[in-house]
Amino acid sequence: MKHILITGASTGIGAETACLLAEGNRIFVHYCASESSAGKVADNVESRGGQAHLVQADLSTEAGCRKLIEAVSAQTDKLDVLVNNAGAMLERKNVREITWDLMARTFAVNTFSIMAVTSMCIPLLDKGDDPNIINLTSVAIRHGAPTATVYGAAKAAIDSFTRGIAKELAPAIRVNALAPGVILTPFHDQVTSAEQLETFRKSNPLQKNGDPIHIAKAVRFIIENDFMNGETIDINGGIFMR
Ligand SMILES: NC(=O)c1ccc[n+]([C@@H]2O[C@H](COP(=O)([O-])OP(=O)(O)OC[C@H]3O[C@@H](n4cnc5c(N)ncnc54)[C@H](OP(=O)(O)O)[C@@H]3O)[C@@H](O)[C@H]2O)c1
Repeated sequence: MKHILITGASTGIGAETACLLAEGNRIFVHYCASESSAGKVADNVESRGGQAHLVQADLSTEAGCRKLIEAVSAQTDKLDVLVNNAGAMLERKNVREITWDLMARTFAVNTFSIMAVTSMCIPLLDKGDDPNIINLTSVAIRHGAPTATVYGAAKAAIDSFTRGIAKELAPAIRVNALAPGVILTPFHDQVTSAEQLETFRKSNPLQKNGDPIHIAKAVRFIIENDFMNGETIDINGGIFMR
């Protein structure tokens, strides 16, 4: 039985990942504001033969990150997998309009949160079985995303962080990242119009946007592959190719 902490597991990619990994495992379903959605995810985990533990915390603050780890530590003395999934674009802005406040909030929720939670989880991961960390970045780190430049930069920092700590923590703990393309989740509700989603779809070689399951399956693949370390996997339908 693996002990798995998934941040931002109330909706979208995190929720799908929690359900996919549920069977036979203990899943810590973290959420911030979406309590009822998180409760449904926890029910789903249990119905699939897993054990679910709900944990609430705002990860855009150091105190919130500490609250998360204290709550998890109260229920387990080890973690096998940490999925650093929580994140948000917050606002789309042209570079001419960006503010210090937007930069600070974007980096707090997408960058500092992952760095802090990772650091705080290491004592738990040290006691895990093939412990590994999976960080969610974005295709925005690859090809320049107009109006999402601050968000892209915040995720790019995590791409670099991933490789650095993959070396620092080896051989004890593996660290990898996933860089999704456009995935249809509540992430886009406040920041991407239906027209923009359609433009993204048409510009994709596969002529479609992704679903959370496309990313959840990649999380499972990384967990199962104990020779993967320091890699960022692009899953975007070919909208960016290396
Ligand atoms: N969807 C895409 O097209 C796409 C593309 C590339 C990368 N990504 C990345 O994939 C990850 C998952 O995104 P998603 O598409 O599944 O989005 P989503 O459905 O909006 O889920 C985001 C999750 O992050 C949590 N969260 C947001 N702000 C938080 C905060 N301050 N503290 C703690 N948790 C917070 C949310 O919790 P509550 O709802 O409970 O507040 C939610 O569980 C994110 O890191 C995102 O940047 C998404």
